[in-house]
Amino acid sequence: MLNLTKLLDPNEREVKRHLSVTAAVNEIEPELKALDDAGLRERSEELRKRARDGEDPDELLIEAFALCREAAQRTIGLRHFDVQLVGGIVLHQGKIAEMKTGEGKTLVASLALYLNALAGKGAHLVTVNDYLARRDAGWMGPIYHLLGMSIGVNVGTAGTFVYDPEYVDETHPDSRLQHLRPATKKEAYQADITYATNSELAFDYLRDNMARDLNQCSQRTLHYAIVDEVDSILIDEARTPHIISGQSEESTDKYYEYARWAGRLAEGDDYEVDLKHKSASLTEAGIAKMERWTGIRNIYDLENVIEAHQINQALKAKALFLRDRDYLVKDGEVIIVDEFTGRTMPGRRWSDGLHQAVEAKEGIKVLQEQKTTSTRSSRA
Ligand SMILES: Nc1ncnc2c1ncn2[C@@H]1O[C@H](COP(=O)(O)OP(=O)(O)OP(=O)(O)O)[C@@H](O)[C@H]1O
Ligand SMILES: [Mg+2]
Repeated sequence: MLNLTKLLDPNEREVKRHLSVTAAVNEIEPELKALDDAGLRERSEELRKRARDGEDPDELLIEAFALCREAAQRTIGLRHFDVQLVGGIVLHQGKIAEMKTGEGKTLVASLALYLNALAGKGAHLVTVNDYLARRDAGWMGPIYHLLGMSIGVNVGTAGTFVYDPEYVDETHPDSRLQHLRPATKKEAYQADITYATNSELAFDYLRDNMARDLNQCSQRTLHYAIVDEVDSILIDEARTPHIISGQSEESTDKYYEYARWAGRLAEGDDYEVDLKHKSASLTEAGIAKMERWTGIRNIYDLENVIEAHQINQALKAKALFLRDRDYLVKDGEVIIVDEFTGRTMPGRRWSDGLHQAVEAKEGIKVLQEQKTTSTRSSRA
């Protein structure tokens, strides 16, 4: 009986088929091992040329995966397991790969990213937060670098970077975060492979749509992307829309009002915190309270998107941002503290209404959202 179910399980069959691809990858391993680093890069360059000339990535998969695995072993000391190669195939096919925590999704993603970046049209890795985008780019960076590919990182408030092994920022204790050189948003997007947070990608997309001149656009044609923590990004976070508010004349009263109500909510009953994803969401009870206090009939109704967004930022400000850890209040201003280095970042503002929500929570003057173009240039 057990065997029969196994036989009929479509997943099982698919995995079996992919394992034969794995065997082919293993077969060329000795040949690649015999090459020096320059030889490996040359092989990578040949693959890129074939991809640019229009060859189907499926035809290049075996060699690309073998190169990526060899480069990973040489640079960061991790050799993709055969099952991880299977995961890479599934990702390349645009399917969902469910892998448990600690099974090595970061390394798996490198395979499909490298393969799909060969054509030179960019490949994106979408993450839930700044830290993961920076860490994973810095961690996998040496692999791509050895294979002649450039790596960008785009994480909004915390900046935009390119991976550069020559650049060393010793303030970071984690070596994976030491080689990210500050760069412009455009450079980050022009890289062969770009790690970015979901919200920054979405905002850049919106900003690009508002641009009056092509020069102002930061993204290029969207080609291929892998979404990490997909349940969180496409389900949980998708409840709060991304909104760009221009230089609005709207009063700032709402920020104070929502901060006040958010202050009365209790963790567990009214909202839940997910520290890993740095997110907070209202429970049914919390939603009911907020609707009662604010007089909004249905917070998650489409016509209330802006309110829902501001309420969510107020909740985030209350639940996740601690004074004297994440920010300081000095001379009536909220000053961000870099979460990795502990340095203050005067002049920087969290985007998307979060800074205002924190100002309102602290009862200091709420500064209006800047015009989109100026927000962008201050970040670049
Ligand atoms: N092929 C490999 N050989 C040796 N160690 C590996 C291999 N692949 C992954 N690891 C190790 O497994 C650990 C977990 O990897 P990673 O953080 O990518 O997991 P994850 O699946 O993304 O987990 P999470 O769900 O927590 O994000 C890392 O310490 C990594 O070094
Ligand atoms: Mg992970």
